[in-house]
Amino acid sequence: MGKPMTMNMIPFVDLESQRRRLAGRIEQALLRVVDSGRFILGEEVQRFEAALAQFGGARHAIGCANGTDALALVLMAWGVGPGDAVFVPSFTFTATSEAVARLGASPVFVDIDPVSYTLDPAALGVQIAAVAREGRLRARAIVAVDLFGQPANYPLLAQIARAHGLKLIADSAQGFGCTLDNAQPLHWADATTTSFFPAKPLGCYGDGGAVLTQSDEDAAVIRSLAQHGQGAARYTHVRIGLNSRLDAMQAAILSEKLSIFREEIAERQQVAQGYTQRLGRDVATPQICRGGVSTWAQYTIEHADRDGLAAALQAQGVPTAVYYAAPTHVQPAYAGFRRAEEALTVTEAAARRVLSLPMSAYVCASVQDRIAETIAGFCANQRHRVAA
Ligand SMILES: Cc1ncc(COP(=O)(O)O)c(C=O)c1O
Repeated sequence: MGKPMTMNMIPFVDLESQRRRLAGRIEQALLRVVDSGRFILGEEVQRFEAALAQFGGARHAIGCANGTDALALVLMAWGVGPGDAVFVPSFTFTATSEAVARLGASPVFVDIDPVSYTLDPAALGVQIAAVAREGRLRARAIVAVDLFGQPANYPLLAQIARAHGLKLIADSAQGFGCTLDNAQPLHWADATTTSFFPAKPLGCYGDGGAVLTQSDEDAAVIRSLAQHGQGAARYTHVRIGLNSRLDAMQAAILSEKLSIFREEIAERQQVAQGYTQRLGRDVATPQICRGGVSTWAQYTIEHADRDGLAAALQAQGVPTAVYYAAPTHVQPAYAGFRRAEEALTVTEAAARRVLSLPMSAYVCASVQDRIAETIAGFCANQRHRVAA
């Protein structure tokens, strides 16, 4: 039996309901691995990688230790390093830039579109031109982030990438499974990376990540890099790599979760619609681009008094989160990468206003009613105060 749910406990991400739906399959998957005695790589990982590649319409899916390594592995395979510029949004989890900086390359921050929160193609063009003008860095790649689950503007980003000879990565840690005109980001990008962090739309019970690519050559190099730069034979090493493997237990869990992922994505649309119908009058609700399907990693609203609203929700037992109050470019670790040309005004405005609500495929109507009532009450109070 699951834990009894009281009115005061709304989970931010409801993994418990998902586990109940899978009715023992997670536990059986774990036992399968324990019984096999094969804990690193092996059949479970191969089976999951094949299913993931099929889901993602990719020739290759390569499991690795986490979503940050997935990004780094792709950049390493392309030889990105010191002196190289990689264009990234600042309004994202730090991992997007960290993977770049860790290799000695320079993240160049690009502003976002105010509606989708994804890379603004016009701002990207400005930054590419600025890097060329300065002549200090060699432009190499773009990392687009499917923030909160929504696909970035891949048709335009791919066009810009091609025009400037840049590689394009889809950092789909939050948006894996999202589509634009029925195509996944890999249709446009040179590689897709994802994270299986537990709270992600497709998450495991620990750390995990993957790279998807259509390139046989990149796949072979990435596989080698993820296993200490292994050559054709075991204990031969042809490049400096790292140890970044997807755990067999996590792969077994992910195979079960992937089998219901399409249904969950559809259910997430219903949950998001339910929120929008209830909240549209009181707060700015998320807008998905035409032809886009979000995986709704987050349902993120905007409000001028975001912190006041969060406190009111918290008082009613509704957890919220702010992604991201301090975007990457203002973090002390990235002070050395700031450039005068960077105008990140949209990023900074969004950072002051965003608030994410409980989200998963399992947020029921009564919970949404309760959240909506609290938000409506808070907004009505504010209107009163302004009028008084
Ligand atoms: C956009 C984005 N990129 C990369 C990552 C890194 O993934 P991981 O935590 O698995 O390293 C995350 C995870 O939070 C993320 O949200």
